[in-house]
Amino acid sequence: MDGKFTNKAKTVMSPNLTFKKLDKRDQIPYDLLLLADPSKVLVDGYVMQSEVYIAIQNEETLGVIVLFPLTTKAVEIKNIAVKPAFQGKGIGSYLIENALKVVALNKKESICIGTANSSVGQLYLYQKLGFEITEIKKNFFIDNYPEPIYENGIQAKHMLVLTRQL
Ligand code: ACO
Repeated sequence: MDGKFTNKAKTVMSPNLTFKKLDKRDQIPYDLLLLADPSKVLVDGYVMQSEVYIAIQNEETLGVIVLFPLTTKAVEIKNIAVKPAFQGKGIGSYLIENALKVVALNKKESICIGTANSSVGQLYLYQKLGFEITEIKKNFFIDNYPEPIYENGIQAKHMLVLTRQL
C-alpha cells in the first residue's frame, strides 16, 4: 500500500462554509496556492500526488489546503491559503480543523506542516491548533530560493516543521 489515503469525510458542513475535496476534474485554485508557495513548479510537483480540499461559501472558493501522503501513517500539509480579503476570519483554522478530522478518519498518526522562522502569524496559528515544533531545516530558504525572503522584518532562513499527533 502506498502512502495515499482514502477520503471518508468528503464534505463537512459548518454554518456558512463547506469543506470539499476536489476531484481530478475540478480546477486547481492556483491563485490561492501561489499565495502560500510562489513556485508553480514546486506546487505542480506535489499537488497531483495530494488530496486538495477547499473551503467554499456561496460557490466561491475562499481557501485551500493540500494534504500530501508522506508515509502510510503521516501526512504533510504542503500548502494552505485563504483569499486575502477573507484572511483573519477563521477560515485557515477551519481548513486545518477539518483536515485533522479527515486525516484522523483515515487512521493516520500524525500531520505536519513546514513554515519559515519569519512566518510569525503562521507559527502562532499552527501552535494554537496543537502543532509542536519537531524539526528545524537549517538554511532551507537560503539554499532553495534564488532571492532573500523577508517577512515581518525578519529574513526567512530556516524551515520549522511542526507536527500534531492524532
Ligand atoms: N499574521 C498574524 N496572525 C495570523 C496570521 C498572520 N499571517 N495568520 C493567522 N493569524 C492568526 C489570526 O490572527 C488568528 O488569531 P486569533 O485566533 O487569536 O484571532 C489565528 O491566527 C487564526 O487565524 P485564521 O483567521 O483562522 O487564519 P486565516 O484564515 O487568516 O488563514 C493563513 C491563515 C492560511 C496563513 C492565511 O493568512 C493565508 O492564506 N496567508 C497567506 C498564505 C500563507 O502564508 N500560507 C501558509 C504558508 S505555509 C504552507 O502553506 C505550508
